[in-house]
Amino acid sequence: MNELISELGKDRKKLKQAIRDPVLFTQIFLNHEPHEAQKQILRDRHQFKTIVAGRRFGKTKAMAFSTIHYAITHPGSIQFILAPSYNQANIMFWEITTLLSKSILVHLVERVYKTPFSKIIFKNGSEIHARSTTKPEYLRGHKAHRVILDEAAYIPDDVISQVVEPMLADYNGSWIKIGTPFGKNHFYDTYLKGQSEGFPDYSSYRFPSTANPHISHEFIEKKKREYGENSIIFRTEYLAEFIEDQNAVFKWADIQKNIAGIQLIDKGISGRRYVIGVDLAKYMDYTVIVVLDVTEKPYRLIYFERYNRRPYAETIFRIKDLHKRFNLARVLIDSSGVGDPVLEDLQGIGAEGYVFTSKSKVQLINRLVAAMENGEVKYPYIEDLIKELQFFEYQLTRTGIKMGARQGFNDDCVIALALAVWIAEQHSHKVLRRVYGATG
Ligand SMILES: Nc1ncnc2c1ncn2[C@@H]1O[C@H](COP(=O)(O)OP(=O)(O)O)[C@@H](O)[C@H]1O
Ligand SMILES: [Mg+2]
Repeated sequence: MNELISELGKDRKKLKQAIRDPVLFTQIFLNHEPHEAQKQILRDRHQFKTIVAGRRFGKTKAMAFSTIHYAITHPGSIQFILAPSYNQANIMFWEITTLLSKSILVHLVERVYKTPFSKIIFKNGSEIHARSTTKPEYLRGHKAHRVILDEAAYIPDDVISQVVEPMLADYNGSWIKIGTPFGKNHFYDTYLKGQSEGFPDYSSYRFPSTANPHISHEFIEKKKREYGENSIIFRTEYLAEFIEDQNAVFKWADIQKNIAGIQLIDKGISGRRYVIGVDLAKYMDYTVIVVLDVTEKPYRLIYFERYNRRPYAETIFRIKDLHKRFNLARVLIDSSGVGDPVLEDLQGIGAEGYVFTSKSKVQLINRLVAAMENGEVKYPYIEDLIKELQFFEYQLTRTGIKMGARQGFNDDCVIALALAVWIAEQHSHKVLRRVYGATG
């Protein structure tokens, strides 16, 4: 603390204020001005806080301010930043290290570790750790004074009760959950507790993205036009409302329960069996390539690639290469339209095609729905994939019910995953070119 005192000269009163008030602390030591909604969150002293906020609200930044303030003002404290993926946890972690590196507080940092897990040790004995919740075994046995859960809605209920709560038991610690809404799980429950009089230790907030004055309102207006003001996407992602889509093909609970801690790889392990599903870009959408390890159930997504605006020749090259790298994996591609000539080019590796009609599409997707309901296919937290699953819907048309991405969204990830699950279950025949779907 000596550095702090000298920084503020003899103004001990101001220093004391800054220690007590995280907003003043952020202004003085982190050179940032929290916006009004962030101020409310920072100053809230409840043990259990749930903050529901739209995309780009400034969730990560607010938690970075708060975590640093706590570490400095609570010597010897242990804090864990937890998120559904290690990447996501590290976004906040690096925000913290960046803020510290530009601050006088950098003198209070003892050491920053990147391996085996991200960790900051302060000279006052405080620690900040970043971890993913998808590997609960790495968290068991750790004690914490405070846990920050980013994108909390994507963290399964049982991780909260079996991992997070036990971590806090020793010190009667506190947690902060922050995220955009997704389904009605623990995040929704504690949001309601925070709103209710019956739970004095809980508080909760809900803020739209527009509460952040640092993001362009033009951007939000554009999203509103793109998705529609009353669309589920706009209302959950930007207005932060808890609404489940009645037309959703995949139940949100099913999407969530299959998120697992899987390390992506780019080469197959010998002795294991893989399959590849490919959805090819048409016009403006994306090519998505998914590789599943199907050696046993549940199948596990272990490779994922998504790109656009590249020539088909490159995609053909990529597929051939992946086929080789993943133990001569069977390949199924969407062979409607542009897919047909691509399939021709992939004859050498025995790639198979799936022709889409509205009927064959329903059949393909229903197989994925069942696999997810039964917990037969696991994937890591990949934002594009999760969001596409979330916003894949039934659509009523004049000729009947269709399935597809909600307007303004893509379904390439969903289709690629569905194709991979489909091919995993077809008996392998020594045919060079086989086409599924067309005949139902
Ligand atoms: N208090 C602040 N001062 C300056 N910029 C901010 C502040 N809060 C958020 N931002 C900026 O707003 C954007 C969104 O913030 P971020 O924390 O990444 O949002 P979220 O985690 O909610 O998606 C980022 O560019 C971030 O730097
Ligand atoms: Mg964030």
